[in-house]
Amino acid sequence: MSTSDSHEDAAAPDSGPRPRLTVIGTGYLGATHAVCMAELGFEVLAVDVDHSKIERLSAGEIPFFEPDLADLLRANLATGRLRFTTSFEEIAEFGDVHFVCVGTPQRPDGYGADLSHLNAAIERLAPLLTRPCLVVGKSTVPAGTAAGIARTLARLAPANAGADADIVSDLAGVQLAWNPEFLREGFAVADTLHPDRLVFGVASPAAEGALRAAFAPVIAQGVPVIVTDYATAELVKTAANSFLATKISFINAMAEVCEAVDADVLTLAEALSHDVRIGGNFLRPGVGFGGGCLPKDIRAFQARADELGVGVALRFLREIDEINNRRRDRVVDLVAAALDGTLARRRLLVLGAAFKPNSDDVRDSPALAVADLLARTGADVTVVDPVATPNARRALPGVTYSETVEDVAADADAVVLLTEWRQFAELDPARLGQLVRRKLIIDARHALDGDRWRQAGWVYLAPGRPTGVIPSPVPEQRPRFGLPAATGPDGAAARDAEIDAPVGRRS
Ligand code: UGA
Repeated sequence: MSTSDSHEDAAAPDSGPRPRLTVIGTGYLGATHAVCMAELGFEVLAVDVDHSKIERLSAGEIPFFEPDLADLLRANLATGRLRFTTSFEEIAEFGDVHFVCVGTPQRPDGYGADLSHLNAAIERLAPLLTRPCLVVGKSTVPAGTAAGIARTLARLAPANAGADADIVSDLAGVQLAWNPEFLREGFAVADTLHPDRLVFGVASPAAEGALRAAFAPVIAQGVPVIVTDYATAELVKTAANSFLATKISFINAMAEVCEAVDADVLTLAEALSHDVRIGGNFLRPGVGFGGGCLPKDIRAFQARADELGVGVALRFLREIDEINNRRRDRVVDLVAAALDGTLARRRLLVLGAAFKPNSDDVRDSPALAVADLLARTGADVTVVDPVATPNARRALPGVTYSETVEDVAADADAVVLLTEWRQFAELDPARLGQLVRRKLIIDARHALDGDRWRQAGWVYLAPGRPTGVIPSPVPEQRPRFGLPAATGPDGAAARDAEIDAPVGRRS
């Protein structure tokens, strides 16, 4: 099949008959997709094997934090267009188009993707598909997965009556399409209702037509549709996340170089961003990327490339991962250097646990990883996050938590900002300065106005930004920093000597 957006003959006008949709898996992606498709006017039935999740969703409760989603869930439950079930029989009977949205996490024993949830969902659904329908994979998968699933559907779905998946050319049977998602946590509703593009990996015009009908209201907005084969559709997703990760690690690598010559990575990024060929998005330096997608996707992509014998083509992604992990160590080194090289028994106030703001997700969170590293050095760490505290407590039980800064700021030796929540950017440095023991802030996300904090008497440090002292060449690439004086409410002693950071590389 050609790769184009010109399949007008297969296009379904928004006014045509609407297919009934099901969503399999009601995690982050599935719950968002189900709610948004109902919002677009479709009848949607979503299924999950987790009874408690289905009970909560049916009661209008979203089991995770995502702005706007709970209101839309309740509104669409009220219309009757959106329902939830634990019965696969019910969804098989109901659906014309089945969206498979189950998780594909990193395997516990390696870099590859764990496809067990996906395979289980298909094997459970397929034998129940007795009438023509389209199964649409949305999960992020290694290239080649969809072709295998198409064969499973051909083998197990009664509606296919044993036909070869490759020759089922209309919706007389059960067909497969691959339709990767590109939604960002924190913007999931807007990204689903108004995506940048739709990618349809299909094996027949009939499958394309059914997908166009399922996305008719989105296509009617003028959203570009890329129609392609399964493997290209699978690759678009992993390539997009790899590109984004590469951009972030590129600017963080520049931060490392800036630190060696006391240059300013923020100014560098801004200057680069004016070149339209480069652009400013995903060029924010800091503590690096995390979350449930970028880190595991670049690792799974490498693992798949190795299996395909083209591992060398993606070898650079290992470096991207390493640059990313080094930022976590770098922040710890910066805190240690600012505290005379000693972290043990220092009282540290960590701002942020979520992997990014507007999320309660702490999977592979740089913030929580740094909090963990600091605690392992013997520091007394208190983590503040407006919404991620319950998840963070489960992931990292060994530190203290709070939802507000003021309650826990007393006697802090340093404040370390690791997730750029708006609440933290709006903190009043004068007020906070009255609570802490030492007015030292490390802004690992470049979220604060450094001049404002300095004017309020704080020592403000940010990775990749000038300290005012050009470090001398360092053997073994150990960071050395000359730091400005830190003063506390009691006028604590100034330290502007060049400090050897004692905290070694952690992994
Ligand atoms: C990412 C992609 O952006 C989505 O397009 C994709 O659909 C999703 O993964 C997925 O695969 O499901 P998400 O993980 O929600 O979305 O978060 P991002 O906004 O991409 O941020 C990822 C990480 O990069 C965060 O830790 C963020 O703080 C960090 N980041 C982002 C930077 O450090 N610098 C930047 O300039 C941008």
